[in-house]
Amino acid sequence: MISTQRWRVVRLPAAAAGFAGDVRAGLLATPRRLPAKYLYDALGSLLFDAITALPEYYLTRAEREILACEGAAIVAAAGAPDELVELGGGSGEKTELLVRPALAAATALRLHALDIAEEALEAAAGRLLERHPALTVYGYAGDYDAGLRAVQLEGRRALMLFLGSNIGNLEHAEACALLRRMRAVLRCGDALLLGTDLRKSPAVIEAAYDDALGVTAAFERNILVRINRELGGTFDLARFRHVASYDPGSGCVASYLVCLRSQDVHIAELGLDLRIHAGETIHTESSYKYSEAEIDAMAAAGGFELAGRWYDRGHLFALSLLRAAGVP
Ligand code: AVJ
Repeated sequence: MISTQRWRVVRLPAAAAGFAGDVRAGLLATPRRLPAKYLYDALGSLLFDAITALPEYYLTRAEREILACEGAAIVAAAGAPDELVELGGGSGEKTELLVRPALAAATALRLHALDIAEEALEAAAGRLLERHPALTVYGYAGDYDAGLRAVQLEGRRALMLFLGSNIGNLEHAEACALLRRMRAVLRCGDALLLGTDLRKSPAVIEAAYDDALGVTAAFERNILVRINRELGGTFDLARFRHVASYDPGSGCVASYLVCLRSQDVHIAELGLDLRIHAGETIHTESSYKYSEAEIDAMAAAGGFELAGRWYDRGHLFALSLLRAAGVP
């Protein structure tokens, strides 16, 4: 527990409550699927942090490079915000690369941190609060929709952060809908900093989602561990293999768990019995890659206009500053 006047956590209802229902619906669907947001239990958050250190997973390093070099320019272009709203900031390591320049430009700063992973949220807030005495953190533990409904802007100028290509988990229509909900929280002139992975060589992308060490496979297979633990499931982990395939047509990396040997699964909490056949898949995640034109189209559909764009030296990743346009 963090004990300071500068920290307040709002525990939103949907975070845990939705898991059982979503698992039931997803496992009974054809093809089977599990929502990617449930990958982030305490262990899943740690495994994701490990992914960001893998040689193949270039996304986090590229984005960190942009923030380290251009953080001050981004903050200036955003109008020296005194309020940040971050969706899915995880460890908060990249957040800090914007907190620093923002605090240099404004006297005090409020951070609204929305994250489904409560443990990660609390740990990130603790680290940021300790290092930045002029920072106040409001934590919202839950999914994006619940968090966005709870946030109330009180400052002069807000900058929303949606980094890490987290938007890539969403299908295009959902992504545009989420951008519109973000826009609705912001005021005219506020901005959104959107991190997106760019389209590139399929070999580079596929390696990033199927690393040699098997950390990504562990991250994706952990969703079954979570179902076994939290819902009394009997998934035999040895019978599921992680597969990631990139489709350059759509720009999407699809991650699946492929069943290697037929098995009967019982999920006590759901009163559910399933037979999963060899060769069947459970879709765990989509990770879209974008061209600049696709980013601009998505931004426009969300009620934003492009105000600036920055790249890493390798041109692997883009940060786009999107200004909240007049009433959408
Ligand atoms: C945190 C959703 C952006 O899709 O690249 C990393 C999660 N999955 N390796 C991504 C992830 C497999 C990541 N996001």
